[in-house]
Amino acid sequence: MHDILDLDRFPLHRPHTPDWQALVDRCRADLAAEGMFNLDGLMRPGIAAQAVAETAPRFAADAFLHERTHNIYFKPVEGLPPDHPALRQFQTSNRTLCADQIAGSALLRLYEWPQFATFLAATMDKPELHVMEDPLACVNVMSYREGQALNWHFDRSEFTTTLLLQAPDQGGGFEYRTDLRSDGDPNYDGVARLLRGEDPESKVITLSPGTLNVFKGKNTAHRVTPVKGARERVIAVFSYYERPGVTFSDAERLGFYGRAS
Ligand SMILES: [Fe+2]
Repeated sequence: MHDILDLDRFPLHRPHTPDWQALVDRCRADLAAEGMFNLDGLMRPGIAAQAVAETAPRFAADAFLHERTHNIYFKPVEGLPPDHPALRQFQTSNRTLCADQIAGSALLRLYEWPQFATFLAATMDKPELHVMEDPLACVNVMSYREGQALNWHFDRSEFTTTLLLQAPDQGGGFEYRTDLRSDGDPNYDGVARLLRGEDPESKVITLSPGTLNVFKGKNTAHRVTPVKGARERVIAVFSYYERPGVTFSDAERLGFYGRAS
């Protein structure tokens, strides 16, 4: 793994040693304070660039164009009128490659490396994490061209694990508003205020290629701002679950990838 990861700075290959534990502790503190942690340069930038170069022909030829109009919840909300400002509609657009389209990639090597799951589980305070048994959904690579964006939403899963492969010239920032809602309070007025662009607690960060980002997005609203310029934003998404053997349903694969297998 030394060839693709900077294990000198991030000793994921030595689980439960003092250096590894110190890194886990730092990540847990960041998660508690900010709802995310970043390992800047975990993947060597040259390897990230190589992964982009390898995926470019597949993006050009047969990536799925994922486009949808949605509100921040991806669905209507019982008790709220359709014109409520918290239900404002936005556009999301990207190109998606599935794991079966990146065979041989360093991204799959990293995903299947047991020490990666061991490290992530420790940062998330989970007993263990398992790879998906879904040949499409386990690792996805998304590309955002000029004008494309991932718009405001809350996540379905508690944690999202991504690795930025290429940053755009401009735009493509990660904007988030920590704890905009809670499990007991949907805070529709606060949601409406954020969507009007009037929430002073909203933050934007830009990541550099090779950065691992782990993010708690269930109650923290977030989006990727529109990409500007010729260079695409390319990001890998790794999906782990607390139980083994998880797959998407055919309906989910059709919705996310336009194909069931
Ligand atoms: Fe998300």
